[in-house]
Amino acid sequence: MTSDAGPSDDARASRPALWDQTYSSKDESQRSWSQDVPAESLFFIDETHVPLDAAIIDVGGGASRLVDKLLARNFSDVTVLDISSKAIDEARRRVGDQRVRWVTADVTKWVPSRTYALWHDRAVFHFLVAREDQAAYVERATSSISLGGYLLLATFSHSGPATCSGLPVQRWSARELTDLFAGGFTLVESALRDHVTPWGAVQPFTWVLMQRRAA
Ligand SMILES: C[S@@+](CC[C@H](N)C(=O)[O-])C[C@H]1O[C@@H](n2cnc3c(N)ncnc32)[C@H](O)[C@@H]1O
Repeated sequence: MTSDAGPSDDARASRPALWDQTYSSKDESQRSWSQDVPAESLFFIDETHVPLDAAIIDVGGGASRLVDKLLARNFSDVTVLDISSKAIDEARRRVGDQRVRWVTADVTKWVPSRTYALWHDRAVFHFLVAREDQAAYVERATSSISLGGYLLLATFSHSGPATCSGLPVQRWSARELTDLFAGGFTLVESALRDHVTPWGAVQPFTWVLMQRRAA
């Protein structure tokens, strides 16, 4: 679903509290998106061959263990951004402060202060169902990924769920995502991959790896 009108200002303002509530009330095993090993993310990150000092941002990273794995591989410039301070606190307690920049922000309002060689988003963009929010996201990804850098995006596919955590999502094909970001990115690779929730439900995802080029 896409909505031109989009959520009201009140609905937008309540997003952080809603996600804080989700992270406070459910432990890792009760969240549908949890993974012990973010295998697909690591597979595609390996495909990019970005160097160990590349600036990497996990947008909507929440309490994901991707950051642990990136640090274990000796990536030295990792940022995790999430709208929920509870999620950031959980990851920060686990990983520590020393080698990660932690940012609590709504990606549609965030003002990036630097550029990134790799932007990773698993299961975040699909919550943006209003065109206005999608446009804000595209603008931020385009302006903050360096030329030649990568955008790795995973959303529910058209055969995936229509909601997550009680929120509507927009489902995407690789073609639709490629078209949306066509102004600044070229598709490198795409794939359909199933995520299996901690309780065994199957959620089909669309993955796209795109590369930033001059418009
Ligand atoms: C389904 S979870 C996925 C978390 C993580 N990417 C993973 O794969 O484990 C969605 C995440 O997006 C975050 N989120 C939702 N809307 C956001 C927004 N507008 N800006 C930043 N983060 C957002 C939520 O707090 C949550 O951590």
